[in-house]
Amino acid sequence: MSRPLTIAIDGPAGAGKGTLARRLADCYRLPHLDTGLTYRAVAHRLLANGWPLGDAPHAVEAARLVDLGNLDKATLSAHAVGEAASRVAVIPEVREILAAKQRAFARQPGGAVLDGRDIGTVVCPDALVKLYVTASAEVRARRRLAEIEANNGSGEFAAILADIERRDARDMGRADSPLKPAADAHLLDTSEMSIEAAFLAARAIVDDALAKRDGA
Ligand code: C5P
Repeated sequence: MSRPLTIAIDGPAGAGKGTLARRLADCYRLPHLDTGLTYRAVAHRLLANGWPLGDAPHAVEAARLVDLGNLDKATLSAHAVGEAASRVAVIPEVREILAAKQRAFARQPGGAVLDGRDIGTVVCPDALVKLYVTASAEVRARRRLAEIEANNGSGEFAAILADIERRDARDMGRADSPLKPAADAHLLDTSEMSIEAAFLAARAIVDDALAKRDGA
C-alpha cells in the first residue's frame, strides 16, 4: 500500500497556514486538524476556571480533557486565548498529551492535513509533504489589522506588530518543540503572495510528492 498523503504545515501566527491547510484539505479531500485549537482549548479551560497559565497540574488535566471532535472554534479564536495558548504550550507534559491525540488523528488510512508549529518536526516527522509557511512580521501585522478592520474593529499597527514579535519569540524560543522548519520542509514565504498564489504553489509541491510516491 502507498504511503498516506499526510500534509504537515507549520509556521508562525498569521502567515496564512490555516487558510492554506483548509484549501489543501478541500482539494485532496482529506480531514484537517488545526492543532492550535488544542492548545487554545487547554488555555481556555484554565482561563475559565481562573487558574494561572503556569499551573502545570491543572494544564495537564485540561490537556487530557481535550476532545478533538469538540473544539469550539468560535470561542477559541479570541485573541486573548491565542496569547494564553502560547504560554501553556511551553509545558512539556501538555505537549506530550496533545501531540499523542494529534498523532492519532494523523493516522488515517488516506492521510490528513495538520497545521501548527511542530507538525513536521515532532508530531508527523514521516509526513509525505511538509510545508513551512512564513511571512515577514510586518506583513503579518498588516494582514491582521486589515482583518480586524474588516470586522469593524480598530487596532494600532505598532501594538499588533509588537504582539506578533512577542508570540514569535515565545514559540521559537521554547525548549520543547520550538517552531522551526523541518530539515525536509518546503519553505513558502507568503509576504508577497496572494492566498491563491500560495495555494497554487503548495498544490504543485503536493502533486510533485504524489507523482514521486506513485513513481510517475
Ligand atoms: O496557531 P494558533 O495561533 O492557534 O496557536 C496558538 C498557540 O498554540 C501558538 O502560539 C503556539 O504557542 C501553540 N501551538 C503549539 N504547537 C502547535 C500549535 C500551536 O505550540 N502545533
